[in-house]
Amino acid sequence: MAMAEAGIEAPKPSNPRNLSLQTKLAIGPTSNRTGYKSFTAGDFEFRRDGYFAHITWPNGRHQMPVDTFLRALMRDVAWNFFYGTVNFDLVFGTTNYYGEVEMFAGATNEAFVAAGRDFIQRFNSDELMRIFKAMIGDWTNAGYDPFAAPMETGAPWGTKSGSNDPAVTRVRVTAKRMVGLPGDVPRRTDKSGYPVNRMFADVAQDEPQIEAEPGFEDEVAAFNLFAYLSRSDVTWNPSVCSIVRESLFCPTSEEFTLPVEHGNDRVEWFVQLSDEIIWAIKDRDTGRYRAQVVCKAGDVCCMPADIRHQGFSEKRSMLLVWENASSKIPELIRQGRAPTVPVTF
Ligand code: PHB
Ligand code: FE
Repeated sequence: MAMAEAGIEAPKPSNPRNLSLQTKLAIGPTSNRTGYKSFTAGDFEFRRDGYFAHITWPNGRHQMPVDTFLRALMRDVAWNFFYGTVNFDLVFGTTNYYGEVEMFAGATNEAFVAAGRDFIQRFNSDELMRIFKAMIGDWTNAGYDPFAAPMETGAPWGTKSGSNDPAVTRVRVTAKRMVGLPGDVPRRTDKSGYPVNRMFADVAQDEPQIEAEPGFEDEVAAFNLFAYLSRSDVTWNPSVCSIVRESLFCPTSEEFTLPVEHGNDRVEWFVQLSDEIIWAIKDRDTGRYRAQVVCKAGDVCCMPADIRHQGFSEKRSMLLVWENASSKIPELIRQGRAPTVPVTF
């Protein structure tokens, strides 16, 4: 997501494994039994049934509960493969090379790699995205919203039953400068279809009063970020609310689990704005546990560039994710020319 949002021109995608691009991408026929379509990307095959998403590749197969799969797929689609690696679970995922993307089975799992059973193929990002978008559209039934907290949506199970295109084609909010500025992303209101979430009923809704010097009325702005986040209809979906060059403030509201284990390709900061999130931190490449971090309101922490992390938030909470969208960082880190931590003491 980052570079297009920041208006930065991407360099040629790096290709550390020297993989060629796969060109076989296909939407299969509808199953008579389940009503769902199957999908092909390179040598990966995807199909779903009443409970599971099944992924097969030469010499391997994997299955995930379909709710877990759809929540993860939704994020990968909405974030355009995000920064670095999106692990759907301990086996399957994608790694973004910004223009091209690797899809893998077992490549971030120590046991698969040690057994020589990891499988990775590379794709043009837009081409794989077309398949992923078709898959989330076809596999999401009426009444199920993969962006919603589990207690705020229907169930995904069973044979094909309708669809929920408005939910799965949501466009991620990305401010050009800042929410609330003239011509930029508007604040959320009851009228615009964003009521206060049940878990944020106590969040004050007043807005700051702005007293700009004459002539600066269009330049000076402020908004109540807590009120804005209290009205988010989605979970675990950072949106760019303010941006200064490559520095992106991406606040989000969180309930239940971050549906992916995010493997960083750069440092990122978390500012816990309310309530509490427990973070499980693992080694990015092997999946070995490194830490559990409990972030309470007011805590600030930094995720190093060599880890993966997944958050758990029982009470809906507010989190500010702070990203540096510079396209140069992942390669500098790969070459050992930039550190994997923001500070050393
Ligand atoms: C992250 O991977 O850093 C991340 C993703 C989505 C969120 C919060 C954090 O909602
Ligand atoms: Fe992350």
